[in-house]
Amino acid sequence: PASPRINPSILSADFANMQAELARISGADFVHVDVMDNHFVPNLTFGPQMVERIQATSPIPLDVHLMIDDPDRWAPGYAELGAASVTFHLEAADDPIALARRLRAIGARAGVAVKPDTAADPLFEHLAEFDQILVMTVEPGFGGQAFRPETMPKLRGLADEARRRGADVWLQVDGGISLETIGVAAEAGADTFVAGSAVFGSADVDAAIAGLRDAAAA
Ligand code: DX5
Ligand code: ZN
Repeated sequence: PASPRINPSILSADFANMQAELARISGADFVHVDVMDNHFVPNLTFGPQMVERIQATSPIPLDVHLMIDDPDRWAPGYAELGAASVTFHLEAADDPIALARRLRAIGARAGVAVKPDTAADPLFEHLAEFDQILVMTVEPGFGGQAFRPETMPKLRGLADEARRRGADVWLQVDGGISLETIGVAAEAGADTFVAGSAVFGSADVDAAIAGLRDAAAA
């Protein structure tokens, strides 16, 4: 893509120094905020109270990724606290379309995510209901896992459908995105890239973001 979006994931940041960590990534497009509930995924991070403080502190808009059960109940609260984008999992939602409409009505971009083994075909008919589709490129729950290239045909299928239907939807990838893998995902149709360890594990965060952006645009 011409101007790929790079969204660093604060899952790999120092949670005790969140304000400084947010300041480090002010050159990125969005800050990716991973909410985990230890039910939908076997890990636990934080909830609305923490995300409200991140929203108040961050120099860039929030891209909230909800790895939680019952997003129908919880997701609107993240839109209400001001998150620019709220993405819930298709596997967890009772009524994904109604939920996306509620998120948009509050003023957030509405995103839906699929785990590596979840098919995206059921979304084809409804691409216009979403602002972002997140194709997970690892099993959600932890940073630092290896990119799963077998998810690329699904991404390619979504990109083809979006083009065919003229849908204005961002295609995001999350998990194992690095200088080595970002080109593969970009080539398959991703335009929005989450990177945790590849950004926060780098001594020069600005250079890491710029390097990823260049590699995605190449
Ligand atoms: C994993 C999270 C990711 C994670 C990515 O379940 O959704 O956002 O932070 O981390 P890396 O880029 O290290 O794979
Ligand atoms: Zn994530």
